[in-house]
Amino acid sequence: MRRKWNVTKLQMILIISTFAIGGSLCGYTGRKILGFLQMEKGAGWIITYLIVVTILWPFFVLAVSIPLGQFSFFKNYLRRILMKLRPGANRKFAPKIINVAILASGTGSNAEKIIQYFSNNSNVKIAVIVTNNTAAGVLHVAKKNAVPAEVISVKKEDAAVYLKILQQYAIDFVILAGYLKMVPAGVIKQFPGKIINIHPALLPAYGGSGMYGMKVHKAVIEANEKESGISIHFVDEIYDNGEIICQKRIPVLPEDTAESLANKIHILEHEWYPQTAANVINKTF
Ligand code: GRF
Repeated sequence: MRRKWNVTKLQMILIISTFAIGGSLCGYTGRKILGFLQMEKGAGWIITYLIVVTILWPFFVLAVSIPLGQFSFFKNYLRRILMKLRPGANRKFAPKIINVAILASGTGSNAEKIIQYFSNNSNVKIAVIVTNNTAAGVLHVAKKNAVPAEVISVKKEDAAVYLKILQQYAIDFVILAGYLKMVPAGVIKQFPGKIINIHPALLPAYGGSGMYGMKVHKAVIEANEKESGISIHFVDEIYDNGEIICQKRIPVLPEDTAESLANKIHILEHEWYPQTAANVINKTF
């Protein structure tokens, strides 16, 4: 449920509390209203009670959601119920779907984990995979998961090429998952705080231009580091430089090689990148 609704544990607790408090207040008020109307207990009382509670419930839940900081969740929740009751209903009631683009140049294992993570999410849609590499494994991932893919051929500052695709798929948020090209400044300006990246080391160490893939892990091993890890960060105009959102660490063991370290880091990435992306999207929209 938490994954479907794209919420953190704390939010889930607040949402359940909102349901419980809103529901109780609604039931209490319903009984008071029926008392005021001096209705006799019986079938009529039950039917009237159910009607009153059904009408009051959305208002109570929305009211309680405000102090608990869950108003936008419940607003979208009620919109979804309305859309289900009236499938052809006015589109203005439809909750906003956040369209996400994944940019990747390689195998695409992170891209695939992200696609799977959001596959049942009704608020977030992985709308397109963009790659600069016609031979990238991520193109198979796209095909296998029925996500549209676009291959671009870009020069360093060619923001227009990216923006055209991002506009075509109405993209709201961008996830870099092993994308080896620099994202042009013109794209970053259009998506402030809405582009994230993952780096397979503890930034600012072992980051920057030329530090990617096995080069990172070889450098960590050669330097006899005692730990390494992953850094998930916002993207700015400098390689691996944006504000760090989350870091996770693992020990580097004496017997570790660049390959064994890369495998362990991949596992860490698959565990943390999708849920961190979900948290950022949740806070941003
Ligand atoms: C990951 O290690 C990521 O940290 C880095 O590129 C790699 C992509 O791997 N930015 P994959 O293509 O997702 O398997």
